[in-house]
Amino acid sequence: MKKNILITGGAGFIGSHVVRLFINKYPEYQIFNLDKLTYAGNLENLSDIDKSENYTFVKGDITDGNFVFELFQKHNFHGVIHLAAESHVDRSISNPMEFIITNIVGTVNLLNACKTTWKENFEDKLFYHISTDEVYGSLGETGMFTEKTAYDPHSPYSASKAGSDHMVRAYHDTYGLPVVITNCSNNYGPNQFPEKLIPLFINNIKNKKPLPVYGQGVNVRDWLYVEDHAAAIDLVFHKGKTGETYNIGGNNEWKNIELIKKLCSIMDKKLGRNEGESAELITYVKDRAGHDLRYAIDSSKIKKELGWEPSLNFEQGLEKTVDWYLNNNQWLNNVVSGAYETYYKKQYGNS
Ligand code: NAD
Ligand code: TYD
Repeated sequence: MKKNILITGGAGFIGSHVVRLFINKYPEYQIFNLDKLTYAGNLENLSDIDKSENYTFVKGDITDGNFVFELFQKHNFHGVIHLAAESHVDRSISNPMEFIITNIVGTVNLLNACKTTWKENFEDKLFYHISTDEVYGSLGETGMFTEKTAYDPHSPYSASKAGSDHMVRAYHDTYGLPVVITNCSNNYGPNQFPEKLIPLFINNIKNKKPLPVYGQGVNVRDWLYVEDHAAAIDLVFHKGKTGETYNIGGNNEWKNIELIKKLCSIMDKKLGRNEGESAELITYVKDRAGHDLRYAIDSSKIKKELGWEPSLNFEQGLEKTVDWYLNNNQWLNNVVSGAYETYYKKQYGNS
């Protein structure tokens, strides 16, 4: 009999890459994708695999405890890969409560459903929680986050993710629930909603719109191509040690302004513009409140214990990403409408 695996948030950016990988690689699994289809969830992300026999989509809300419990009773899941979340820092600053409810209450509903339906028979079961490096707070010029770095979140987003991580560990320590957590750095690649830095700027460069750089553009992020994250998730789900945490990072730190200039230069070439033309769109705007200066991940544990490493360098990953956005106009146009337009005007005005 096929093993039923639940992936939450599978219609979102990272989730859709994880669903695709599992559908194609593991015909012996029945993959259930549970997603509420918020503004960030898009079934178009999965149009290439949604007819597969081993795929089932379930529209539903993880914050609805009864619904989650009934779903678990019906399908007897062997494993859960939990990605559903509110994920954008700027939105968390405008509306923190939604982040508390989805990211903390939603996660606890899933933990409760696992605990009750697995009824102390935890063998061969796993609750895998996908988290972020932002729970560790902000670094100065030097140093890196390891799995032992104390949590010090600053934004409502990172604080809600930290809260959910703590609850996952509490269910492991208190009830013996088999769990694993990974904390990953900033992802980029195809299908990312154009509110995050890279897809937002690709879209604005394409449309010759201003590029809103927060503060001085000196903040540093560690960027990882999304398919490399999906490969790490596959590895940790199958080989990770229960109760452990693994950091996942690209070993690829970029100051925002340098990344943006690189992106402008790649796009000038792709769009046949003069070198330097797109960089003229750079516009410094008011800094984000509580803006973390620097994130950098030490991923030596997952490399040493599970043999994972990023497969793409940044140049290759950015080129692939830009090509994908330029070749998928329809996807972008469908996304850049309705709710997204309203959000954009609220965040950046009519520029
Ligand atoms: P995303 O915002 O693109 O997708 C989130 C998905 O969750 C969407 O499909 C949305 O519809 C769904 N969802 C939201 N609320 C829901 C609810 N109440 N019930 C069911 N589904 C719901 O996010 P992403 O960037 O793909 O991130 C996925 C996960 O990875 C998140 O947990 C995030 O914290 C984590 N993460 C993201 C990054 C990154 O750079 N994007 C880095 C590290 C960790
Ligand atoms: P973002 O993609 O929102 O990811 P996160 O805040 O989770 O790291 O932002 C990445 C960096 O880019 C962050 O330092 C904020 C900055 N940024 C801008 O300068 N302008 C923008 O319009 C956005 C969305 C982000």
